[in-house]
Amino acid sequence: MRALVFHGPGQFSWDTVPDPAIQQPTDAIVRVDTTTICGTDLHILKGDVPEVRPGTVLGHEAVGVITETGDAVGSFQAGDRVLVSCISGCGRCRYCREGAYGQCLSGGGWILGHLVDGTQAEYVRVPFADLSLHKLPDEVPSEQAILLSDILPTAYEVGVLNGRVTPGDTVVIVGAGPIGLAAVATARLYSPGRIVAVDLAQSRLDAAKRLGADDVVQAEEDVEGFVRGITGGLGADVVMEAVGVPQSFELCTRIVRPGGHVANIGVHGKPAALHLEDLWIKNLTITTGLVDTSSTPALLRMLAAGRLPAAELTTHTFALDAMEEAYDVFSRAAETGALKVVINRS
Ligand SMILES: NC(=O)c1ccc[n+]([C@@H]2O[C@H](COP(=O)([O-])OP(=O)(O)OC[C@H]3O[C@@H](n4cnc5c(N)ncnc54)[C@H](O)[C@@H]3O)[C@@H](O)[C@H]2O)c1
Ligand SMILES: [Zn+2]
Ligand SMILES: [Zn+2]
Repeated sequence: MRALVFHGPGQFSWDTVPDPAIQQPTDAIVRVDTTTICGTDLHILKGDVPEVRPGTVLGHEAVGVITETGDAVGSFQAGDRVLVSCISGCGRCRYCREGAYGQCLSGGGWILGHLVDGTQAEYVRVPFADLSLHKLPDEVPSEQAILLSDILPTAYEVGVLNGRVTPGDTVVIVGAGPIGLAAVATARLYSPGRIVAVDLAQSRLDAAKRLGADDVVQAEEDVEGFVRGITGGLGADVVMEAVGVPQSFELCTRIVRPGGHVANIGVHGKPAALHLEDLWIKNLTITTGLVDTSSTPALLRMLAAGRLPAAELTTHTFALDAMEEAYDVFSRAAETGALKVVINRS
């Protein structure tokens, strides 16, 4: 089959590789009909995620049809149209039994396109299929369902739920890529008083406005002054970091109010300074997190009911064998205006 193979920092290509096969009785093989690219894939290419070995097929998001199941897969069969979650869970370990699949102790967690071959390919082997796949209702189109592999559950769980957004809050989201935009969309479910999006790219600030941000601020402008100005000098109730660089995390800790929440979503490759000499007195809650995807069934019901602005989160569509072009367009989002790019089997 054809697949997007990582060859070390800065290097990848669309290669011919062996078809995946069932390795464990809990595996399923899925024919990939739709996949996409995540900001995390860009971090891998930058060298920020050194566990990814050269030779790994990238990608952790897909919608497709099961072609084969291992003997121990009980909930799915060949022919089922499914969502492939970015997180796999054994279902049995201490964390999985608490719904914290991201921390699975038995070989699950974020493995696709990280520790095992991923979804930017014609076929993918999905470990622990019973807990890593979700059956899709016919009425949910694949180009919307794909947003449930990662960005909607991530923004919702790691941003909105960890950040404890409550009605009336001032919420600032630093980084308005697909994850930050999905955070704008899912924060609105809690009726905050005001949502502010911060980014370097005008195209992404425009998208944040379309998705319901009340204010947008260029990251190079005086973000601190702006947030002080709209909060009576206090700072924001909830601040989410959706970039993954030290400057933006440090900005988040400067614009949160005493007693507020900073929810880090970004994948970081470098240390960020935690200024405890200023922060110790501020009663802050700072959370970090890998998504668990325990919210996926609820988000799927919301998507099927038309309660999530999925169509507004995607821009470009490519054929599977134009994967390298899709990477080029997604990685130059400031110029291309790309949000989530949809890649379909032709
Ligand atoms: N925690 C998790 O489970 C999880 C899951 C998926 C993705 N992520 C991470 O979330 C982050 C966002 O993902 P994405 O797909 O939206 O990525 P992306 O690269 O498309 O978006 C990042 C955005 O940040 C903006 N930006 C860059 N530097 C900035 C700065 N200094 N200040 C403000 N904005 C700045 C960019 O213009 C861009 O719009 C990434 O770090 C990704 O790895 C985390
Ligand atoms: Zn991702
Ligand atoms: Zn587990």
